[in-house]
Amino acid sequence: MAAQPTPADKFSFGLWTVGWTARDPFGEASRADLDPVEAVNRLAELGAYGITFHDDDLIPFGSDNAARDHHIARFRKALDSTGLVVPMVTTNLFTHPVFKDGGFTSNDRDVRRFALRKVLRNIDLAAELGASTFVMWGGREGAEYDVAKDIRAALDRYREAVNVLSQYVLDRGYGLRFAIEPKPNEPRGDILLPTVGHALAFINELEHPEMVGLNPEVGHEQMAGLNYAHGIAQALWSGKLFHLDLNGQRGIKYDQDLVFGHGDVMNAFALVDLLENGGPQGGPAYTGPRHFDYKPSRTEDYDGVWASAAANMRTYLLLKERAAAFRADPEVQEALAASKVGELSAPTLNEGETYADLLADRSAFEDLDVDAVAGRGFGFVQLNQLALEHLLGAR
Ligand code: GCO
Ligand code: MN
Ligand code: MN
Repeated sequence: MAAQPTPADKFSFGLWTVGWTARDPFGEASRADLDPVEAVNRLAELGAYGITFHDDDLIPFGSDNAARDHHIARFRKALDSTGLVVPMVTTNLFTHPVFKDGGFTSNDRDVRRFALRKVLRNIDLAAELGASTFVMWGGREGAEYDVAKDIRAALDRYREAVNVLSQYVLDRGYGLRFAIEPKPNEPRGDILLPTVGHALAFINELEHPEMVGLNPEVGHEQMAGLNYAHGIAQALWSGKLFHLDLNGQRGIKYDQDLVFGHGDVMNAFALVDLLENGGPQGGPAYTGPRHFDYKPSRTEDYDGVWASAAANMRTYLLLKERAAAFRADPEVQEALAASKVGELSAPTLNEGETYADLLADRSAFEDLDVDAVAGRGFGFVQLNQLALEHLLGAR
């Protein structure tokens, strides 16, 4: 039995997740609009600690200042009364038709200037609400036609935008960091910064790379056929896991945004094990929000929406429990040793050893019985079977 979620678990949800009314390219909304105040109250009741939003989720696009203040004020009141926090804020640069060719990288310069203004305004709100992470998901930053977009110029403009925004945050003294969310495609045919690796390389080209990290989403890496847990591990290795979007995806197809674990559950197990137990001393490797970015399926009514929100947290806690049992099992410890998992942490050269020493070491080459080494099995399958059995609750 998994524990009930509590704020200490740091679960957070996008307002646009439970608030998705399930309009898709083929059909009308299947649910009525959700009041953001109701979202705050229900998520707090379920044990979440945080809520995140795009500007337009809270303040309908085009609202005048009075309406804007009103929407913010009643949201704040709900936050204060429930204790829910806003760890992350993001900007919608994709719904309004003005962004049909992107925001920061639209071919139209007027659109790019408008997009920057929209984000600057939203950064003020993020800081006001105490957020520490500002996500940038460039869903419309991309193209369908190779000849219609100068990709190098688009990357210049993307960099220019992030540099301007970083400078603004520095000048204002806001405690905000940016997190880029990669996605390979949808809604654009091809999106810029399509994977964790592309985004990491981009960050190195910025004026303030220390202010910019990643917000990788499970389904987005998997849409590209990539291993999410590997992507997270590399983001951690680079010191760039600023935030993350948990959900489920079944293979290389449209972005499903299923409940966490309702896709590749083995990879979800490895992910939770990494986040919770993969720190240098065995503790958590990531201490930020466990943020769910999923879409309650179109088939669900509001009871189903709240049940699916609870399911995300319950699945995470179950996997956390299963991962702890896996780590504690002496047979697993033996299997890990037999597979030499820990041996990979030992540097390949001895301390102080140089390549000249290595060249002089006959035991490393001339005298090594290569066939004998090649004949050693690693036992990875048995180790993975133990993981599966723990995951299934069979051990
Ligand atoms: C998607 C994305 C988006 C972004 C969100 C943040 O499913 O394509 O997850 O939902 O995360 O818009 O800007
Ligand atoms: Mn998604
Ligand atoms: Mn996302």
